[in-house]
Amino acid sequence: MEKTDLIKIIDAPLVSDPRGNLIFLEGNKQIPFSIKRIYWMFDLEEDGKRGFHAHRNTVQVLFCTAGKCLIKVDDGKEKSELWLDTPNKGILLDKKVWHSMEKFQEGTTILVLANKEYDESDYLRNYDDFVKYVNCNQ
Ligand code: TYD
Repeated sequence: MEKTDLIKIIDAPLVSDPRGNLIFLEGNKQIPFSIKRIYWMFDLEEDGKRGFHAHRNTVQVLFCTAGKCLIKVDDGKEKSELWLDTPNKGILLDKKVWHSMEKFQEGTTILVLANKEYDESDYLRNYDDFVKYVNCNQ
């Protein structure tokens, strides 16, 4: 798994015993904020793509709890990508980071933890608007 300044990996503790594996997350510990919302995506089309937006104020952590997918991130200056392919390795998606997800392996489930409740007005869904917003809100 690659790591750049733009890509921040979150390591979740993994408890393994002969019965199987257990991974846990706590707000303000492994997750660097108070968790306000949890959602997950599944039955993802293998050649589908999701995301293509940024958030003004929402910070999120994504885990691929099953399967794998490619995450692309862009802060308006730098672009990077990584495969999310390990159930206890997440990616921190900061506010003002344009992101997308693709190349979903069959059976992939993506778990997302967010610091805000859902609010459509928090989304930047147009790339040019995102770049302008980032440049005006450094
Ligand atoms: P969206 O965040 O746009 O996901 P993607 O970019 O992967 O398509 O969400 C898809 C739809 O689900 C959109 O209509 C908003 C709705 N939604 C909620 O109502 N609540 C939520 O917490 C989330 C994440 C999405």
